[in-house]
Amino acid sequence: MRIAVLGLGYVGLSTSVAFALLGQHVAAYDSDVERMHQLESGSVPIYEPGLTEALAGVVEKNALEFASDLESAVSGSAAVFVAVGTPPGIDGRPDLSYLLSLADELAPQIRDNQVVVLKSTAPPGTDVEFMKQVRLAREKAGLPSLSLKIAVNPEFLREGKALEDSMHPARIVIGLSNSESRPLLEGLYSGFAAPIVWTDPTSAALIKYASNCFLATKISFVNEMARLCSLAGGNIDDVSRGMGMDPRIGNQFLRAGIGYGGSCFPKDTLGLLSIGDDLGYVPRIVRATIDVNNDQPGLLIRQLSSELGDLRSAHIAVLGLAFKADTDDIRESVGIRIANELMANGAIVAVHDYRALKSARKELSCDVRFCADVDAAVHGAVAVIVTTEWPGYAVLDWKHVATLMSGKLILDGRNFLSPPVIARAGLTYLGVGRPARRGLGVEVASD
Ligand code: UGA
Repeated sequence: MRIAVLGLGYVGLSTSVAFALLGQHVAAYDSDVERMHQLESGSVPIYEPGLTEALAGVVEKNALEFASDLESAVSGSAAVFVAVGTPPGIDGRPDLSYLLSLADELAPQIRDNQVVVLKSTAPPGTDVEFMKQVRLAREKAGLPSLSLKIAVNPEFLREGKALEDSMHPARIVIGLSNSESRPLLEGLYSGFAAPIVWTDPTSAALIKYASNCFLATKISFVNEMARLCSLAGGNIDDVSRGMGMDPRIGNQFLRAGIGYGGSCFPKDTLGLLSIGDDLGYVPRIVRATIDVNNDQPGLLIRQLSSELGDLRSAHIAVLGLAFKADTDDIRESVGIRIANELMANGAIVAVHDYRALKSARKELSCDVRFCADVDAAVHGAVAVIVTTEWPGYAVLDWKHVATLMSGKLILDGRNFLSPPVIARAGLTYLGVGRPARRGLGVEVASD
């Protein structure tokens, strides 16, 4: 079956490759000309493990083609997948402008026998808004009306594991307002070994927000427990492990740290607040999740100040600028926020990342020292803060790091380093709610 995929970011690209690998013919298109040129020349504009090779494979087999324009992508396709971005707007509401301008462009091309599949994360009701936009655009162009078939099919992939998650989803969620398109979508998804949750479009959109907000809540919850561990003298690792063994709780997303970042959790938690706001209800748990997360980076800075005193002219190394490991994405990155706050406090900041140095330059002051290797970043540092869980940091030769530093303090913002290894290197380890010395996440006036 021929399908079109419009919008070639993480979701669009991974979806395209996954469908192509599973035997569909994919016409992929993005309105960003530079992005299309890059892709056509075989280079993937984002760092996503395995994607470049997989994309080259399906292009080679003619299972995936890059369409020269929207019309040629859509023409002859049974389904048109829409995966354009819905970034956060000024008031926290998702900005639907890319989606709605795509509806304008699509309006003259779409036919009665095609189904539009919305993959972009967008509030309930966006399917109706999209259909309205198509109808208006067709009216304006003097085109006959059509009964647009639309499905809401949210994506649950993680960056860094985008292809793996697209190929092996835990579930597929499809919201339809009538069952007409069901056989076609059932056929398209038959190659994926995952259950399909058939529902209405509103519930499908809410499943996506509810899932991301629930995971974000798990993180904020465990971060709150980490604060209590620090106050009570417990160990958050043991608390998380003990909680996670209960299958009703599950052991994932219970790693305490300096908070979640990325293009999804921060955006979707705020998005759900705005959805509630529009409906006259404040989702209080989500509000608290956001509040706890916003506090996390500040706790670390205050901990650092209480250890070092004045941060002015203190040389601090920040290891990790990507919002998590295995990506070069710096959107809502806690590492970037911490580096900026340190600069605002007058510190001398050196930063390192395995993938995100280039993209981070535009988000950080030019006075920050950008280091391509860890040694250069930690050289002369009085403290090192690890802000991204890159595996490379976990296996650093900390004895060597100790010889380069001018101080001894290691702050593990992701609770993934080994405290005994750091201690054996003669360094002082501080984690988040971990017991070695006083952990982060606590502000005790008398301490
Ligand atoms: C998230 C969801 O996990 C995906 O299911 C969803 O499809 C995606 O958003 C989306 O909406 O597109 P992603 O943003 O790629 O995926 O990243 P996650 O792996 O969920 O991590 C998000 C943040 O939480 C990172 O900053 C990570 O460091 C942090 N985190 C994660 C913790 O602080 N503790 C944990 O235990 C787990």
